[in-house]
Order: sequence, then structure tokens, then C-alpha cells
Amino acid sequence: MTTDHSPADIHPRTALVVGATGIAGSALVEKLTAEGWPVLALSRRPGVTQEGVRWLSADLTSAEALAAVLAPEHPTHVFFTAWSRRDTEEENIEVNAAMLRDLLAALRGKPVAHVALMTGLKHYLGPFEAYAAGEMADTPFHEEEPRLPVRNFYYAQEDELFAAAAEQGFTWSVHRAHTVIGHAVGNAMNMGLTLATQAALCRDAGEPFVFPGSETQWNGLTDMTDAGLLAEHMLWASTTPGAADEAFNIVNGDVFRWRWMWPQLAAWFGVDWEGYDGAPRPLEQAMAGRQEQWADLAGRHGLAELRLDRMASWWHTDSDLGRGIEVVTDMGKSRVAGFTGYRRTLDAFTTLFERYRAEKLIP
Ligand SMILES: NC(=O)c1ccc[n+]([C@@H]2O[C@H](COP(=O)([O-])OP(=O)(O)OC[C@H]3O[C@@H](n4cnc5c(N)ncnc54)[C@H](OP(=O)(O)O)[C@@H]3O)[C@@H](O)[C@H]2O)c1
Repeated sequence: MTTDHSPADIHPRTALVVGATGIAGSALVEKLTAEGWPVLALSRRPGVTQEGVRWLSADLTSAEALAAVLAPEHPTHVFFTAWSRRDTEEENIEVNAAMLRDLLAALRGKPVAHVALMTGLKHYLGPFEAYAAGEMADTPFHEEEPRLPVRNFYYAQEDELFAAAAEQGFTWSVHRAHTVIGHAVGNAMNMGLTLATQAALCRDAGEPFVFPGSETQWNGLTDMTDAGLLAEHMLWASTTPGAADEAFNIVNGDVFRWRWMWPQLAAWFGVDWEGYDGAPRPLEQAMAGRQEQWADLAGRHGLAELRLDRMASWWHTDSDLGRGIEVVTDMGKSRVAGFTGYRRTLDAFTTLFERYRAEKLIP
């Protein structure tokens, strides 16, 4: 079934950001409101109240809750940036595909013109539990690569998106980000806040800021995705006819080596540093048992978040920096299609750290 009219002609454009308090979703809310879009922001817990944003509270794992909360709404552009972390990839597939399926089902019959889905480079690397195992595409990763022969919740979400687009008559885009440098607190994967927390703990204890990852990551080229740039990319694809019905990589556009970046970050924090020295030194071990130190440090500096587990996602930074393979991403497809956005990754980090400092999340 397709709609026989242009939905945006009848309904004023309205964005629905799903996962609106997350590291990507909150950047989208900022970008869309700055561009004058009315925004419906969906998550379980509401975010900050601001002009132009209406918070919808619903659990994506409940089709009934989604149908109820979306019944009176008329979004024209949907940005899906939610995810729920589960113990196994099979569970990730089951839960995350169903969340997208049920959300799209609740939008049936509404004036939806475009749905943008955020996924990531695990599209090319494989899921966490089979990370970089087996045959992989050569770097830099290109969108045209065939899927890996291993089950992946991103593939399941893409398939839900494609099926609903065909049935409901909207256009779609998929956005494959590398590690996101952005603002959130208490979310599952946040390298920026994790490194800032590590640096604060190390400086406080008079210890060096130790690179936790692998030799390959220390020496090899890599890239990152600024959350603000990701938001620009998702909005661009959602409103550019030539970008419809395509999957795109999205990274900052520069490349760097951690052996160059790490000392820059250490200098910003004013802490001594150590690089790779023969073996990875994972944060999950090095930062274990530091809750008391963090609460004490936070108390002395008047910080806003006393819970260390809401500041740092050690497991995720270990996983990204511990990869034994080079991860670099091609942006040619977006550029040819007209997206020329760019960020310097060092600036993305330091701008974020300044914001966390201004909000009294880090000293
Ligand atoms: N973070 C990264 O570095 C990164 C990099 C590349 C790709 N990705 C991918 O990007 C996607 C989004 O990840 P993210 O890191 O941006 O997410 P995130 O920061 O963890 O945010 C998740 C959002 O989803 C909401 N949410 C979670 N479960 C929900 C539920 N049951 N019902 C309603 N809302 C729910 C959360 O709010 P509530 O908890 O309040 O509901 C939050 O707003 C994922 O597919 C991830 O794999 C992430």
C-alpha cells in the first residue's frame, strides 16, 4: 500500500526522534529544533524541557504503549536512534528488530514521508560477540559491501525498515556511524565521557592516563563520528530526494592515529599519559572498584553525577580500542550525493569535554 498524496503537503513537517535522550538522539533534537522543526521526542524517561520539543514517554518493547502514545500524533520524518543492549546477539536481534517493527506499525496510516535509521560499523565488523571474526571487507569500509554471513541486529533492523517502507510508502535511509563522540549521561556506549572519567580518576590518583587498547589501534589509522555531524547527516538524507532509499557511512572526514590523539587528550586534561606497551590494559580491570574514589572526587569538585557506572562505559571503550584490526570508513558515497559536512575529531572531543566541564560532570 502506498499513499497517493505527498504527506508533507497536507501535514506540516514534524520530526519524531526515537531514542531522544541518547547520544545520537539528543544531538538530533538539538539540530532539528535549531532548524525550526517541531520535535516529538520519544524515550522511556523524558529529557530536558525545551521550546519546540514535546516528550512522549513509551516503552518500545510494548506495541500497545507505542500505539497508544502515537495515536494522536502526525510525524512526517522519523529518526530511529534507540537500542536496547542484551546479553547475546540473538536477543539483540529479537528485541531491537521488534522495537523498530512495532514503532513503524504504530505509524501506519500516518503522513510519514521518510524514516532514517541509525546503525553502525558493526554492519561491517560483525556483532560484539563475533567482532572482527572471520572474513571481513577491506578498509576503508564501503556501503556496497555484501553483508557478513553472521546474524546481526543491524541487518534485522534494516530488513524491518525495508519491509515497512515498501508497505507504507515512505522513503528510508540508513546511517552507519563509527564510535560516536557526543553528549549523554548513563547511556550504554559513550567513549567521550568514558575517557574524560578515566582521565579525571587518573589525575586525581596521581596515575598516568593509560591507553587501554591494542597495538593495532595505537599505531593504525582510524576515524570517529561526531554526534552533531551525524544529526546533520540524518537530516540531510531525510530531506534530500537524491539520498532517499540508500545506506550511508557517516564519519568525521579526518583520520588519526591514537598514538597522536592520546597525548592531545592527556594534555587537555592535564594528566601524564602512557601509550601501548606490549599488551592491552583494559579499563574494565584498571578502573574496577573506583566508585568510592569517584564519589569522593565528585564531592570535592561539586560534580553533578556521583555514580561512576553512569559516567563510564568501560566495556565499550575497551571493545573499540581493543580491536586487532584497522577500522577506517569511506565517505565518498555521501560526498558524491552532496553531503560535505566535516568535523575535526580532536575538536569534537575537546568541545564535548568543555561541555561536560561546564555542566559539572567532570572537574
Ligand atoms: N554510541 C556509539 O558510540 C554508537 C556508535 C555506532 C553505532 N551506534 C548504534 O547507534 C544506535 C543508537 O545507539 P546510541 O548509543 O545512540 O544509544 P543510547 O545513547 O544508548 O540511547 C538509547 C536511547 O534509546 C532509548 N531507549 C532505550 N530502550 C528503550 C525502550 N525500551 N523504549 C523507549 N526508548 C528506549 C533511551 O532512553 P530511555 O532509556 O530513557 O528509554 C535512549 O534515549 C544503536 O544501534 C547503536 O548500536 C552507537
